[in-house]
Amino acid sequence: MEKKRIGVLTGGGDCAGLNPAIKWVVKTAMDDRLQRARKIQYEVLGIRDGWKGLVLPDGDESDLAPRICTLTEETVRTWDRYGGTMLGTSRTNPYDPKNNRSKIVLENLERYHLDYLVAIGGEDTLGVAHKLYLEGVKIVGIPKTIDKDLSGTDYTLGFETAVNVITEEIDRLRTTAGSHRRIFIVETMGRHAGWLALEGGESSGAYIILIPEYNFEINRVNELLLEGREKGARYEIIVVAEGAQPAGCPEIVKEEGVDSFGHKILGGIGEFLAKWISQMSKIETRSITLSHLQRGGVPCAYDRRMGRYFGIAAVDMIVKEDFGKMVSYRNGWITAVPLREAVGKLNLVDVQTQYDTERYNGRRTILGG
Ligand code: F6P
Repeated sequence: MEKKRIGVLTGGGDCAGLNPAIKWVVKTAMDDRLQRARKIQYEVLGIRDGWKGLVLPDGDESDLAPRICTLTEETVRTWDRYGGTMLGTSRTNPYDPKNNRSKIVLENLERYHLDYLVAIGGEDTLGVAHKLYLEGVKIVGIPKTIDKDLSGTDYTLGFETAVNVITEEIDRLRTTAGSHRRIFIVETMGRHAGWLALEGGESSGAYIILIPEYNFEINRVNELLLEGREKGARYEIIVVAEGAQPAGCPEIVKEEGVDSFGHKILGGIGEFLAKWISQMSKIETRSITLSHLQRGGVPCAYDRRMGRYFGIAAVDMIVKEDFGKMVSYRNGWITAVPLREAVGKLNLVDVQTQYDTERYNGRRTILGG
């Protein structure tokens, strides 16, 4: 029987759902019955720490941990129950303009005899996957990111678990906010996309939701808060995306500088807003940043299932020799789209149809009007 090797890696920010996807890549590739039918025997190798696992030149022993490990059905049997990524991840960019190591990646793919690659990641990791594909690598992608900002798919692994975290934390905040008659500002991640804040805010019934796609007026936020109190509310929850901006103000960053993919490190809008609001409204206001809690914890049922389907589909694409594509979930179906389409532009909230710019909240009409 013909033998082929598949490498699998996870890159970028971790999230729940990665391990289920890895597990199902391995199980689908190594399934006895399927191997007999395909007449190809696949071996699956896990690459550690994302692209970092492929950028060390031959003979460089600076990192003593093995960069590559063999994955068997037995190894991955229980992985779908765990959050994070058993393979590790990094934000290493082999095409970093200041340190382009893409040639080493190509050399290492030969050195490890990797016939195919499955890259599980967001816009950065899959952006690299697309460039490698253009250099001749037989590669497929699986979408993951809590930001849900990849184009070409309605779902990215990790998103639903993160929304569950936001909802559960806000449920906890409600009791203490109500006891003290406070306003609570909850800052979510999401970079330039408002999906986490919007869908987390909708799931938890937040009073105000602020997203990067629509610059808000602080005065309007204050007006809505006072209106709420006049109607008898004891407390209010405001969900704000880390990339949200007050009209006329610059984006708020946690630290100066950018990472190797050129992203700013966002954060701090929650604190900033809390100060303003307590001054303007004279109501005690606190802020909490959910930060990496949104990426942690065990995958929810949906992420386990989607990880499973995405992992299976990635191997199907390899079997069909359908490379340069990303698994996608579209209108209820699992399908595949070109990586170029997935990473070409960010998938952002459509303010006109999905956001209420008057009440700074989710839409109030769905079927028309
Ligand atoms: O892209 C996922 C994400 O969690 C963003 O929402 C956030 O801005 C960023 O990663 C945080 O990155 P890091 O884990 O490097 O702090």
